[in-house]
Amino acid sequence: MSETSTPLKLSVIGCGYLGAVHAASMAELGHEVVGIEVDVAKAESLAAGRVPFFEPGFEELLRRSLDSGRLSFSSDMAAARGAAVHFVCVGTPQRRGEYAADLTYVEAATASLLDVLGPGELVVGKSTVPVGTAARLAEQVAARVPEAALAWNPEFLREGFAVQDTLHPDRLVYGVADAADAPVDAEKVLDGVYARIVADGTPKVVTDYATAEMVKTAANSFLATKISFINAMAELCEATGADVKQLADAIGHDDRIGRKFLNAGLGFGGGCLPKDIRAFMARAGELGADQALTFLREVDNINMRRRIRMVELARQVCDDSLLGKRIAVLGAAFKPDSDDIRDSPALNVAAQLQLQGANVRVTDPAAVPNVRRHWAQLDCVDTPEEAAEGADAVLLLTEWRQYKELDPATFGKVVRTRRVLDGRNALDRESWEAAGWTYRALGRRNV
Ligand code: UDX
Repeated sequence: MSETSTPLKLSVIGCGYLGAVHAASMAELGHEVVGIEVDVAKAESLAAGRVPFFEPGFEELLRRSLDSGRLSFSSDMAAARGAAVHFVCVGTPQRRGEYAADLTYVEAATASLLDVLGPGELVVGKSTVPVGTAARLAEQVAARVPEAALAWNPEFLREGFAVQDTLHPDRLVYGVADAADAPVDAEKVLDGVYARIVADGTPKVVTDYATAEMVKTAANSFLATKISFINAMAELCEATGADVKQLADAIGHDDRIGRKFLNAGLGFGGGCLPKDIRAFMARAGELGADQALTFLREVDNINMRRRIRMVELARQVCDDSLLGKRIAVLGAAFKPDSDDIRDSPALNVAAQLQLQGANVRVTDPAAVPNVRRHWAQLDCVDTPEEAAEGADAVLLLTEWRQYKELDPATFGKVVRTRRVLDGRNALDRESWEAAGWTYRALGRRNV
Protein backbone atom coordinates (compact mmCIF):
# COMPACT_ATOMS: atom_id res chain seq x y z
CA MET A 1 0.00 0.00 0.00
CA SER A 2 1.41 3.40 -0.81
CA GLU A 3 1.05 6.25 1.63
CA THR A 4 0.59 9.90 0.77
CA SER A 5 3.42 12.21 1.72
CA THR A 6 1.16 14.08 4.15
CA PRO A 7 -1.76 12.09 5.50
CA LEU A 8 -4.79 14.26 6.21
CA LYS A 9 -7.80 13.89 8.39
CA LEU A 10 -10.89 13.66 6.16
CA SER A 11 -14.61 13.26 6.69
CA VAL A 12 -16.98 11.75 4.15
CA ILE A 13 -20.59 12.71 4.70
CA GLY A 14 -23.10 10.22 3.29
CA CYS A 15 -21.91 6.62 3.02
CA GLY A 16 -24.11 5.29 0.25
CA TYR A 17 -22.57 3.93 -2.88
CA LEU A 18 -20.40 6.92 -3.68
CA GLY A 19 -19.47 7.89 -0.12
CA ALA A 20 -18.64 4.42 1.20
CA VAL A 21 -16.31 3.71 -1.72
CA HIS A 22 -14.78 7.19 -1.50
CA ALA A 23 -14.17 6.87 2.25
CA ALA A 24 -12.44 3.49 1.98
CA SER A 25 -10.43 4.63 -1.05
CA MET A 26 -9.19 7.74 0.75
CA ALA A 27 -8.04 5.54 3.66
CA GLU A 28 -6.29 3.34 1.10
CA LEU A 29 -4.44 6.46 -0.06
CA GLY A 30 -3.12 6.85 3.50
CA HIS A 31 -5.54 9.38 5.00
CA GLU A 32 -7.37 9.13 8.29
CA VAL A 33 -11.04 9.02 7.32
CA VAL A 34 -14.31 9.13 9.19
CA GLY A 35 -17.47 8.25 7.27
CA ILE A 36 -20.59 9.98 8.57
CA GLU A 37 -23.82 8.12 7.86
CA VAL A 38 -27.17 9.07 9.41
CA ASP A 39 -28.56 5.56 8.86
CA VAL A 40 -27.24 3.90 12.02
CA ALA A 41 -27.65 0.36 10.67
CA LYS A 42 -25.66 1.24 7.54
CA ALA A 43 -22.89 2.89 9.56
CA GLU A 44 -22.66 -0.15 11.83
CA SER A 45 -22.61 -2.54 8.93
CA LEU A 46 -19.79 -0.64 7.21
CA ALA A 47 -17.85 -0.39 10.50
CA ALA A 48 -18.11 -4.17 10.78
CA GLY A 49 -16.72 -4.60 7.26
CA ARG A 50 -20.06 -5.64 5.75
CA VAL A 51 -20.94 -3.97 2.47
CA PRO A 52 -24.67 -3.20 2.18
CA PHE A 53 -24.59 -3.39 -1.64
CA PHE A 54 -22.93 -5.49 -4.35
CA GLU A 55 -19.69 -4.06 -5.67
CA PRO A 56 -16.82 -6.28 -6.85
CA GLY A 57 -13.61 -5.68 -4.89
CA PHE A 58 -15.15 -3.28 -2.42
CA GLU A 59 -15.45 -5.57 0.58
CA GLU A 60 -11.72 -6.36 0.45
CA LEU A 61 -10.88 -2.66 0.23
CA LEU A 62 -13.24 -1.84 3.11
CA ARG A 63 -11.77 -4.53 5.35
CA ARG A 64 -8.21 -3.52 4.49
CA SER A 65 -8.97 0.10 5.32
CA LEU A 66 -10.71 -0.80 8.60
CA ASP A 67 -7.83 -3.09 9.58
CA SER A 68 -5.34 -0.29 8.93
CA GLY A 69 -7.08 1.70 11.67
CA ARG A 70 -7.40 4.68 9.34
CA LEU A 71 -11.11 4.26 8.57
CA SER A 72 -14.04 4.58 10.95
CA PHE A 73 -17.76 5.29 10.66
CA SER A 74 -20.12 7.28 12.83
CA SER A 75 -23.71 8.49 12.78
CA ASP A 76 -22.77 11.62 14.66
CA MET A 77 -21.63 14.65 12.67
CA ALA A 78 -19.48 15.67 15.65
CA ALA A 79 -17.03 12.97 14.53
CA ALA A 80 -16.25 15.14 11.48
CA ARG A 81 -14.90 17.92 13.71
CA GLY A 82 -11.31 18.81 12.98
CA ALA A 83 -11.08 17.17 9.55
CA ALA A 84 -9.11 19.21 7.03
CA VAL A 85 -11.49 18.25 4.22
CA HIS A 86 -15.18 17.28 4.38
CA PHE A 87 -16.53 15.44 1.33
CA VAL A 88 -20.27 15.73 0.76
CA CYS A 89 -21.39 12.50 -0.91
CA VAL A 90 -25.14 12.33 -0.24
CA GLY A 91 -27.69 11.38 -2.90
CA THR A 92 -29.62 13.72 -5.19
CA PRO A 93 -32.54 11.59 -6.39
CA GLN A 94 -35.22 12.72 -8.82
CA ARG A 95 -37.97 14.68 -7.07
CA ARG A 96 -41.20 12.73 -6.86
CA GLY A 97 -43.47 13.69 -9.74
CA GLU A 98 -40.94 16.13 -11.23
CA TYR A 99 -37.82 16.11 -13.39
CA ALA A 100 -35.76 18.24 -11.01
CA ALA A 101 -33.24 16.87 -8.52
CA ASP A 102 -34.18 16.64 -4.86
CA LEU A 103 -31.55 18.57 -2.92
CA THR A 104 -32.97 17.85 0.53
CA TYR A 105 -30.06 15.61 1.52
CA VAL A 106 -27.40 18.02 0.25
CA GLU A 107 -29.02 20.90 2.13
CA ALA A 108 -29.41 18.86 5.33
CA ALA A 109 -25.85 17.50 5.22
CA THR A 110 -24.41 20.97 4.65
CA ALA A 111 -26.49 22.53 7.41
CA SER A 112 -25.37 19.93 9.91
CA LEU A 113 -21.73 20.15 8.75
CA LEU A 114 -21.73 23.91 9.30
CA ASP A 115 -22.21 23.27 13.03
CA VAL A 116 -18.83 21.53 13.26
CA LEU A 117 -16.87 23.21 10.45
CA GLY A 118 -13.72 24.97 11.58
CA PRO A 119 -11.55 27.75 10.10
CA GLY A 120 -9.09 26.68 7.39
CA GLU A 121 -11.18 23.61 6.51
CA LEU A 122 -12.44 22.76 3.05
CA VAL A 123 -15.92 21.47 2.16
CA VAL A 124 -15.83 19.44 -1.07
CA GLY A 125 -19.05 18.55 -2.88
CA LYS A 126 -19.04 15.29 -4.83
CA SER A 127 -22.77 14.76 -5.27
CA THR A 128 -24.29 15.40 -8.72
CA VAL A 129 -26.13 18.71 -8.36
CA PRO A 130 -27.92 21.24 -10.57
CA VAL A 131 -25.58 23.96 -11.78
CA GLY A 132 -25.65 26.87 -9.32
CA THR A 133 -25.81 24.72 -6.18
CA ALA A 134 -22.10 25.05 -5.31
CA ALA A 135 -22.19 28.85 -5.44
CA ARG A 136 -25.21 28.86 -3.12
CA LEU A 137 -23.59 26.47 -0.64
CA ALA A 138 -20.34 28.48 -0.77
CA GLU A 139 -22.29 31.53 0.42
CA GLN A 140 -23.67 29.51 3.34
CA VAL A 141 -20.16 28.39 4.27
CA ALA A 142 -18.78 31.94 4.04
CA ALA A 143 -21.63 33.30 6.17
CA ARG A 144 -21.03 30.81 8.99
CA VAL A 145 -17.27 30.17 8.86
CA PRO A 146 -15.61 32.94 6.81
CA GLU A 147 -12.17 31.26 7.02
CA ALA A 148 -13.44 27.99 5.49
CA ALA A 149 -14.00 27.34 1.78
CA LEU A 150 -15.92 25.13 -0.63
CA ALA A 151 -14.91 23.29 -3.80
CA TRP A 152 -16.83 21.06 -6.20
CA ASN A 153 -15.17 17.83 -7.25
CA PRO A 154 -17.57 15.63 -9.25
CA GLU A 155 -17.28 11.89 -9.19
CA PHE A 156 -17.53 9.75 -12.32
CA LEU A 157 -17.53 6.25 -10.86
CA ARG A 158 -19.45 3.49 -12.56
CA GLU A 159 -21.18 0.83 -10.51
CA GLY A 160 -19.32 -2.43 -10.88
CA PHE A 161 -16.02 -0.53 -11.30
CA ALA A 162 -16.37 1.81 -8.34
CA VAL A 163 -13.07 0.97 -6.65
CA GLN A 164 -11.03 1.12 -9.84
CA ASP A 165 -12.75 4.37 -10.92
CA THR A 166 -12.13 6.03 -7.54
CA LEU A 167 -8.47 5.05 -7.18
CA HIS A 168 -7.62 5.42 -10.87
CA PRO A 169 -10.03 8.02 -12.28
CA ASP A 170 -9.57 9.12 -15.88
CA ARG A 171 -9.63 12.76 -14.80
CA LEU A 172 -9.87 15.01 -11.76
CA VAL A 173 -12.14 18.04 -11.90
CA TYR A 174 -11.88 20.77 -9.28
CA GLY A 175 -14.43 23.57 -9.25
CA VAL A 176 -13.02 26.32 -7.05
CA ALA A 177 -13.96 29.84 -5.99
CA ASP A 178 -12.40 32.47 -8.20
CA ALA A 179 -11.49 34.87 -5.42
CA ALA A 180 -7.71 35.27 -5.38
CA ASP A 181 -7.88 35.86 -1.64
CA ALA A 182 -9.86 32.66 -0.90
CA PRO A 183 -9.28 31.62 2.71
CA VAL A 184 -8.19 28.12 1.65
CA ASP A 185 -6.18 27.14 -1.44
CA ALA A 186 -8.63 24.44 -2.56
CA GLU A 187 -6.49 23.21 -5.46
CA LYS A 188 -3.49 22.69 -3.21
CA VAL A 189 -5.56 20.90 -0.56
CA LEU A 190 -7.19 18.60 -3.13
CA ASP A 191 -3.80 17.88 -4.70
CA GLY A 192 -2.71 16.77 -1.24
CA VAL A 193 -5.75 14.50 -0.85
CA TYR A 194 -5.23 12.96 -4.29
CA ALA A 195 -1.41 13.06 -4.19
CA ARG A 196 -0.98 9.51 -5.49
CA ILE A 197 -3.59 9.96 -8.21
CA VAL A 198 -2.03 13.27 -9.29
CA ALA A 199 1.43 11.63 -9.28
CA ASP A 200 0.07 8.96 -11.65
CA GLY A 201 -0.28 11.74 -14.23
CA THR A 202 -4.10 11.81 -14.11
CA PRO A 203 -5.37 14.76 -16.19
CA LYS A 204 -6.71 17.56 -14.02
CA VAL A 205 -9.12 20.36 -14.88
CA VAL A 206 -9.28 23.26 -12.45
CA THR A 207 -12.26 25.46 -13.14
CA ASP A 208 -15.15 27.45 -11.68
CA TYR A 209 -18.07 25.95 -9.78
CA ALA A 210 -20.58 26.03 -12.65
CA THR A 211 -18.26 24.27 -15.10
CA ALA A 212 -17.37 21.59 -12.56
CA GLU A 213 -21.04 20.94 -11.86
CA MET A 214 -21.82 20.81 -15.57
CA VAL A 215 -18.95 18.44 -16.40
CA LYS A 216 -20.81 15.69 -14.60
CA THR A 217 -24.25 16.27 -16.11
CA ALA A 218 -22.79 16.91 -19.55
CA ALA A 219 -20.79 13.66 -19.41
CA ASN A 220 -23.82 11.63 -18.37
CA SER A 221 -25.98 13.33 -21.02
CA PHE A 222 -23.42 12.49 -23.68
CA LEU A 223 -23.33 8.84 -22.61
CA ALA A 224 -27.13 8.64 -22.56
CA THR A 225 -27.25 10.25 -26.00
CA LYS A 226 -24.75 7.77 -27.38
CA ILE A 227 -26.83 4.84 -26.13
CA SER A 228 -30.06 6.32 -27.46
CA PHE A 229 -28.40 7.09 -30.78
CA ILE A 230 -27.56 3.45 -31.35
CA ASN A 231 -30.99 2.41 -30.08
CA ALA A 232 -32.60 4.78 -32.58
CA MET A 233 -30.48 3.07 -35.24
CA ALA A 234 -31.82 -0.25 -33.89
CA GLU A 235 -35.37 0.98 -34.53
CA LEU A 236 -34.37 1.75 -38.08
CA CYS A 237 -32.62 -1.59 -38.45
CA GLU A 238 -35.84 -3.28 -37.38
CA ALA A 239 -37.68 -1.35 -40.10
CA THR A 240 -35.12 -2.11 -42.81
CA GLY A 241 -33.75 -5.54 -41.99
CA ALA A 242 -30.28 -4.14 -41.25
CA ASP A 243 -28.22 -5.39 -38.29
CA VAL A 244 -27.48 -2.90 -35.50
CA LYS A 245 -24.61 -4.88 -34.02
CA GLN A 246 -22.67 -4.88 -37.25
CA LEU A 247 -23.61 -1.26 -37.77
CA ALA A 248 -22.19 -0.36 -34.32
CA ASP A 249 -19.00 -2.34 -35.02
CA ALA A 250 -18.55 -0.61 -38.35
CA ILE A 251 -19.15 2.95 -37.18
CA GLY A 252 -17.22 2.26 -33.96
CA HIS A 253 -14.03 1.63 -35.95
CA ASP A 254 -13.96 5.35 -36.59
CA ASP A 255 -12.11 6.47 -33.49
CA ARG A 256 -13.87 9.83 -33.58
CA ILE A 257 -17.01 7.81 -32.80
CA GLY A 258 -15.59 4.87 -30.82
CA ARG A 259 -17.28 1.54 -30.10
CA LYS A 260 -17.86 2.08 -26.35
CA PHE A 261 -21.44 2.83 -25.23
CA LEU A 262 -22.77 1.77 -28.62
CA ASN A 263 -24.34 -1.45 -27.40
CA ALA A 264 -27.91 -1.46 -28.63
CA GLY A 265 -30.52 -3.19 -26.53
CA LEU A 266 -32.89 -2.36 -23.72
CA GLY A 267 -31.19 0.96 -23.05
CA PHE A 268 -30.01 2.73 -19.96
CA GLY A 269 -31.36 2.69 -16.41
CA GLY A 270 -29.91 2.95 -12.93
CA GLY A 271 -29.61 5.65 -10.35
CA CYS A 272 -27.68 8.12 -12.51
CA LEU A 273 -28.25 8.51 -16.24
CA PRO A 274 -32.09 8.74 -16.25
CA LYS A 275 -32.38 11.15 -13.33
CA ASP A 276 -29.34 13.19 -14.33
CA ILE A 277 -30.58 13.96 -17.85
CA ARG A 278 -33.99 14.90 -16.43
CA ALA A 279 -32.55 17.14 -13.73
CA PHE A 280 -30.33 18.76 -16.39
CA MET A 281 -33.40 19.53 -18.54
CA ALA A 282 -35.25 20.92 -15.51
CA ARG A 283 -32.33 23.15 -14.59
CA ALA A 284 -31.96 24.38 -18.18
CA GLY A 285 -35.64 25.35 -18.05
CA GLU A 286 -35.13 27.32 -14.85
CA LEU A 287 -32.21 29.12 -16.49
CA GLY A 288 -34.27 29.99 -19.58
CA ALA A 289 -32.12 27.72 -21.75
CA ASP A 290 -34.53 24.79 -22.12
CA GLN A 291 -34.23 24.72 -25.94
CA ALA A 292 -30.58 23.73 -25.60
CA LEU A 293 -31.58 20.44 -24.02
CA THR A 294 -34.88 19.52 -25.69
CA PHE A 295 -32.96 16.80 -27.52
CA LEU A 296 -32.52 15.03 -24.19
CA ARG A 297 -36.28 14.54 -24.06
CA GLU A 298 -35.95 12.54 -27.26
CA VAL A 299 -32.99 10.64 -25.80
CA ASP A 300 -35.25 9.71 -22.87
CA ASN A 301 -38.14 8.79 -25.22
CA ILE A 302 -36.00 6.55 -27.43
CA ASN A 303 -34.71 4.85 -24.30
CA MET A 304 -38.18 4.18 -22.90
CA ARG A 305 -39.48 2.95 -26.27
CA ARG A 306 -36.99 0.05 -26.20
CA ARG A 307 -38.73 -1.38 -23.16
CA ILE A 308 -42.10 -1.25 -24.90
CA ARG A 309 -40.59 -2.82 -28.01
CA MET A 310 -39.18 -5.69 -25.94
CA VAL A 311 -42.63 -6.46 -24.54
CA GLU A 312 -44.08 -6.37 -28.07
CA LEU A 313 -41.39 -8.70 -29.32
CA ALA A 314 -42.12 -11.13 -26.48
CA ARG A 315 -45.78 -11.08 -27.42
CA GLN A 316 -44.95 -11.67 -31.08
CA VAL A 317 -42.82 -14.71 -30.43
CA CYS A 318 -45.43 -16.09 -28.02
CA ASP A 319 -47.92 -16.45 -30.89
CA ASP A 320 -49.33 -12.95 -30.37
CA SER A 321 -50.63 -13.48 -26.87
CA LEU A 322 -48.94 -13.20 -23.49
CA LEU A 323 -51.92 -14.56 -21.57
CA GLY A 324 -50.81 -17.48 -19.43
CA LYS A 325 -47.44 -17.74 -21.18
CA ARG A 326 -44.54 -18.71 -18.97
CA ILE A 327 -41.67 -16.27 -19.41
CA ALA A 328 -38.21 -16.48 -17.88
CA VAL A 329 -36.45 -13.17 -17.30
CA LEU A 330 -32.68 -13.45 -16.89
CA GLY A 331 -31.40 -10.34 -15.14
CA ALA A 332 -33.04 -7.81 -12.85
CA ALA A 333 -30.24 -5.36 -12.05
CA PHE A 334 -29.98 -2.30 -14.30
CA LYS A 335 -26.64 -3.65 -15.50
CA PRO A 336 -24.35 -6.61 -14.76
CA ASP A 337 -22.03 -6.66 -11.72
CA SER A 338 -24.53 -4.65 -9.72
CA ASP A 339 -27.48 -5.40 -7.46
CA ASP A 340 -28.96 -1.98 -8.16
CA ILE A 341 -32.52 -2.18 -9.45
CA ARG A 342 -33.26 1.54 -9.57
CA ASP A 343 -35.02 2.28 -12.86
CA SER A 344 -34.00 -1.12 -14.14
CA PRO A 345 -35.10 -1.71 -17.74
CA ALA A 346 -35.18 -5.45 -17.03
CA LEU A 347 -37.64 -5.14 -14.16
CA ASN A 348 -39.73 -2.64 -16.06
CA VAL A 349 -40.14 -5.18 -18.88
CA ALA A 350 -40.77 -8.05 -16.45
CA ALA A 351 -43.52 -6.08 -14.71
CA GLN A 352 -45.19 -5.09 -17.99
CA LEU A 353 -45.19 -8.70 -19.18
CA GLN A 354 -46.79 -9.78 -15.94
CA LEU A 355 -49.40 -7.02 -16.13
CA GLN A 356 -50.28 -8.26 -19.60
CA GLY A 357 -51.06 -11.73 -18.30
CA ALA A 358 -47.77 -13.57 -18.63
CA ASN A 359 -46.53 -15.85 -15.91
CA VAL A 360 -43.11 -14.28 -15.28
CA ARG A 361 -40.18 -15.66 -13.32
CA VAL A 362 -37.21 -13.38 -12.72
CA THR A 363 -33.70 -14.32 -11.70
CA ASP A 364 -30.46 -12.42 -11.16
CA PRO A 365 -27.07 -13.38 -9.70
CA ALA A 366 -27.04 -10.45 -7.23
CA ALA A 367 -30.31 -8.52 -7.22
CA VAL A 368 -32.80 -11.20 -6.09
CA PRO A 369 -32.93 -9.93 -2.46
CA ASN A 370 -33.61 -6.38 -3.70
CA VAL A 371 -36.30 -7.58 -6.09
CA ARG A 372 -38.00 -9.54 -3.31
CA ARG A 373 -37.88 -6.47 -1.07
CA HIS A 374 -39.14 -3.91 -3.58
CA TRP A 375 -41.10 -5.88 -6.20
CA ALA A 376 -42.92 -8.43 -4.09
CA GLN A 377 -45.48 -8.94 -6.87
CA LEU A 378 -42.82 -10.54 -9.11
CA ASP A 379 -41.99 -14.20 -8.79
CA CYS A 380 -38.26 -14.32 -8.18
CA VAL A 381 -36.02 -17.40 -8.20
CA ASP A 382 -32.34 -18.05 -7.63
CA THR A 383 -31.17 -19.77 -10.79
CA PRO A 384 -31.74 -19.42 -14.53
CA GLU A 385 -32.80 -23.06 -14.67
CA GLU A 386 -35.59 -22.48 -12.13
CA ALA A 387 -36.67 -19.36 -14.00
CA ALA A 388 -36.76 -21.21 -17.31
CA GLU A 389 -38.54 -24.37 -16.11
CA GLY A 390 -41.30 -25.01 -18.66
CA ALA A 391 -40.85 -21.55 -20.22
CA ASP A 392 -42.46 -20.50 -23.49
CA ALA A 393 -39.75 -17.87 -23.93
CA VAL A 394 -36.52 -16.83 -22.24
CA LEU A 395 -35.61 -13.14 -22.14
CA LEU A 396 -32.04 -12.05 -21.45
CA LEU A 397 -32.47 -8.54 -20.03
CA THR A 398 -29.22 -7.94 -18.08
CA GLU A 399 -26.05 -9.28 -19.66
CA TRP A 400 -24.40 -11.04 -16.71
CA ARG A 401 -21.41 -13.16 -17.68
CA GLN A 402 -23.13 -16.24 -16.17
CA TYR A 403 -25.97 -15.88 -18.66
CA LYS A 404 -23.71 -15.28 -21.64
CA GLU A 405 -21.91 -18.50 -20.71
CA LEU A 406 -25.03 -20.67 -20.45
CA ASP A 407 -24.79 -23.76 -22.60
CA PRO A 408 -27.79 -23.41 -24.93
CA ALA A 409 -28.09 -27.19 -25.47
CA THR A 410 -28.22 -28.10 -21.77
CA PHE A 411 -30.28 -25.05 -20.86
CA GLY A 412 -32.72 -25.91 -23.64
CA LYS A 413 -33.72 -29.07 -21.78
CA VAL A 414 -35.59 -27.14 -19.07
CA VAL A 415 -37.76 -24.93 -21.28
CA ARG A 416 -40.98 -25.86 -23.03
CA THR A 417 -40.14 -24.01 -26.23
CA ARG A 418 -36.66 -22.95 -27.29
CA ARG A 419 -37.25 -19.26 -27.86
CA VAL A 420 -34.74 -16.71 -26.67
CA LEU A 421 -35.01 -12.93 -26.82
CA ASP A 422 -31.66 -11.25 -26.38
CA GLY A 423 -32.46 -7.83 -24.91
CA ARG A 424 -28.79 -6.86 -24.70
CA ASN A 425 -27.38 -8.32 -27.91
CA ALA A 426 -25.05 -10.29 -25.69
CA LEU A 427 -25.56 -13.94 -26.56
CA ASP A 428 -23.67 -15.88 -29.18
CA ARG A 429 -26.51 -16.11 -31.67
CA GLU A 430 -24.99 -18.89 -33.74
CA SER A 431 -24.54 -21.32 -30.87
CA TRP A 432 -28.09 -20.72 -29.61
CA GLU A 433 -29.51 -21.23 -33.08
CA ALA A 434 -27.35 -24.31 -33.56
CA ALA A 435 -28.93 -25.74 -30.37
CA GLY A 436 -32.37 -25.31 -31.89
CA TRP A 437 -33.38 -22.02 -30.31
CA THR A 438 -35.37 -19.37 -32.15
CA TYR A 439 -33.25 -16.27 -31.52
CA ARG A 440 -34.66 -12.73 -31.64
CA ALA A 441 -33.00 -9.50 -30.58
CA LEU A 442 -33.57 -5.77 -30.72
CA GLY A 443 -32.28 -4.25 -33.94
CA ARG A 444 -31.23 -7.56 -35.52
CA ARG A 445 -32.62 -9.27 -38.53
CA ASN A 446 -34.60 -12.47 -38.13
CA VAL A 447 -33.23 -15.53 -39.74
C1 UDX B 1 -22.97 6.16 -15.06
C2 UDX B 1 -21.72 6.80 -15.67
O1 UDX B 1 -21.09 5.88 -16.56
C3 UDX B 1 -20.74 7.20 -14.57
O2 UDX B 1 -19.63 7.86 -15.13
C4 UDX B 1 -21.46 8.12 -13.61
O3 UDX B 1 -20.60 8.49 -12.54
C5 UDX B 1 -22.72 7.47 -13.07
O4 UDX B 1 -23.57 7.06 -14.14
P1 UDX B 1 -23.56 3.74 -14.06
O5 UDX B 1 -24.94 4.28 -13.78
O6 UDX B 1 -22.86 2.94 -13.03
O7 UDX B 1 -22.58 4.95 -14.41
O8 UDX B 1 -23.71 2.83 -15.34
P2 UDX B 1 -23.14 2.75 -16.84
O9 UDX B 1 -22.09 1.73 -16.89
O10 UDX B 1 -22.82 4.10 -17.35
O11 UDX B 1 -24.44 2.17 -17.58
C6 UDX B 1 -25.66 2.91 -17.58
C7 UDX B 1 -26.75 2.17 -18.29
O12 UDX B 1 -26.53 2.20 -19.68
C8 UDX B 1 -26.91 0.69 -17.92
O13 UDX B 1 -28.30 0.42 -17.78
C9 UDX B 1 -26.32 -0.04 -19.11
O14 UDX B 1 -26.90 -1.29 -19.28
C10 UDX B 1 -26.68 0.91 -20.24
N1 UDX B 1 -25.80 0.81 -21.41
C11 UDX B 1 -24.47 1.09 -21.30
C12 UDX B 1 -26.33 0.45 -22.65
O15 UDX B 1 -27.54 0.21 -22.77
N2 UDX B 1 -25.49 0.39 -23.73
C13 UDX B 1 -24.18 0.67 -23.66
O16 UDX B 1 -23.50 0.59 -24.69
C14 UDX B 1 -23.64 1.02 -22.40
